[in-house]
Amino acid sequence: MRKKVVAGNWKCNTTLQEGVELAKAVNKLVTEKGAADVVVVLGTPFTHIASVVDAVDTNRIGVASQNCAAEPKGAFTGEVSAAMVKSTGAKYVILGHSERREYYGETSEILNKKLALALENGLTPIYCCGEPLEIRNAGTQADYVINQLKETVFQLSEEDFGKLIIAYEPIWAIGTGVTATTEQAQEMHKAIRDAIAEKFGKQVADDTSLLYGGSCNAKNANDLFANPDVDGGLIGGASLKPDDFIQIINAY
Ligand code: PGA
Repeated sequence: MRKKVVAGNWKCNTTLQEGVELAKAVNKLVTEKGAADVVVVLGTPFTHIASVVDAVDTNRIGVASQNCAAEPKGAFTGEVSAAMVKSTGAKYVILGHSERREYYGETSEILNKKLALALENGLTPIYCCGEPLEIRNAGTQADYVINQLKETVFQLSEEDFGKLIIAYEPIWAIGTGVTATTEQAQEMHKAIRDAIAEKFGKQVADDTSLLYGGSCNAKNANDLFANPDVDGGLIGGASLKPDDFIQIINAY
């Protein structure tokens, strides 16, 4: 059975103190009134993870890093390894976000190394895919996204693939206020699930949580999550506002 997941991606926002306050506020709302069947994840900056793990009920809220290094350890100044992330108490790692691909040159080759290290260290990758506007305008979004999966997560064993959460995030919808319509989201999620079924079989496809990301908010989450193949969301801007975030968590 696939799980419903709502994951916040704080990106490069909040100081440590602000982040801990935000986590505490989310924790209060989730423990008081969060839908019990929804897995809640907070994707915080590296510097905040250990403190956020301490500030929340980790039986109810999982913490994610937003990246990890492509090397296990060593002379890589400024990098944070998957083992380091794991040692903070984080359980998840967001990998392949379009901002990492675009601004930091993360290729499929780099992402394959990160995926392997994340899995080796027992972290659950939340693996992002999604097309830019010109691909959407050309109508080739399904091919583009499935190719992203073929170059990366479809290279994993079936067992490892089964540990992933996949987030479909059309780049043109991220942080723009332009959300994919419910039909566009469902169409892409179905295409992704069909491709997973073709690669790993129907059972694996049925068990994979597919999140939608891109200007998902308290107003549109309901409609987006009503789609049969949308199993939750990866939430940027709205995850910084506890009252909005809890509405998204409770939007099923
Ligand atoms: P957004 O970001 O909700 O602010 O559009 C989503 C994401 O980038 O994960």
